[in-house]
Amino acid sequence: MTPDLIAADEESIARAGELIARGLLVAFPTETVYGLGTDATNDRAVASIFEAKGRPSFNPLIVHLPDRQSADRFVHFNAEADKLAHAFWPGGLTLVLPRRRDCSLSLLVSAGLDTVALRVPAHKVAHALLLAARCPIAAPSANASGRISPTRAEHVLESLGQAASLKLILDGGPCAMGLESTVIGFPAAGPTLLRPGAIAREAIEAVLGRKLVDAAPLSGEAGRSSPGQLESHYAPEVAIRLNARDSRAGESVLGFGPDMPEVPGLNLSATGDLREAAAHLFSMLRELDAMGKPIAVMPIPETGLGEAINDRLRRAAAPRGKV
Ligand code: TXA
Ligand code: MG
Repeated sequence: MTPDLIAADEESIARAGELIARGLLVAFPTETVYGLGTDATNDRAVASIFEAKGRPSFNPLIVHLPDRQSADRFVHFNAEADKLAHAFWPGGLTLVLPRRRDCSLSLLVSAGLDTVALRVPAHKVAHALLLAARCPIAAPSANASGRISPTRAEHVLESLGQAASLKLILDGGPCAMGLESTVIGFPAAGPTLLRPGAIAREAIEAVLGRKLVDAAPLSGEAGRSSPGQLESHYAPEVAIRLNARDSRAGESVLGFGPDMPEVPGLNLSATGDLREAAAHLFSMLRELDAMGKPIAVMPIPETGLGEAINDRLRRAAAPRGKV
């Protein structure tokens, strides 16, 4: 049976909250991407997320909370994490922090690590759902493992429509940011950028008053300390060529800026606006993927949100089979 896809309103959110409290799966909108959520304190429920996504079980999940205060029950904050939560929550920032000894979150959300990733989403529907469910919600992006993250409810249906445990997809329209959250960890070396994302590095460094440490690009076994670093991750079916300054016969173009060539393709942002480009990235990749031709991607600057956009594009272009 395929899941119900229903516009998010008071009634559907209440129903979604009940499903989650019973340990079933619900897909819901956040300001970054759609999440596939369930009760983060329920081991069986969390296991069903891994099952539905076909995700390698060593990949830990983000736990969503309604507010900053709720986080103290689960993890130990440090002063810099506190500063970042104050500056960016609710919003597109995820903090990886040490679990408290009495942390009631399923050990599965940490996938064997002694830390847990937490985020307070800003989207009204996500917030209302957290209140309705009355439990922390574990939610990875609502796509099959290794595939493009969903920025619309229909993407979830395409990718996970066959997952038996997914009962309901709450439709909240397209995601405003369209890129997953930025993930920051706090190893001894200092605040570390584990995954570039919706909040630009520069904004985080401005709040901290110092540079972020870069997580080494990892793959394979070494990727286990931060599995989001695995190389091939956001994989369309077709081949992708980056930094393309021309288009070749048989390719479609993913453009950026005013100089889009007159060939089949889509432009992330005709005005060269990185925020707009981020919001369009995953849905345009899907559209071009469906055309079945290799994709030539025009150069995108590495500044601001460009860092996260280029990170996703490099993963989409990376050799397959590394996840
Ligand atoms: O925007 C987002 O972050 C979306 C929405 C739904 O909130 N969620 C999302 O979740 O992208 P997911 O599971 O697709 O990505 C979680 C990322 C992965 O890169 C994972 O490795 C990292 O967070 N992560 C989670 N827990 C971690 C931990 N304890 N230590 C290091 N990295 C962790
Ligand atoms: Mg994901």
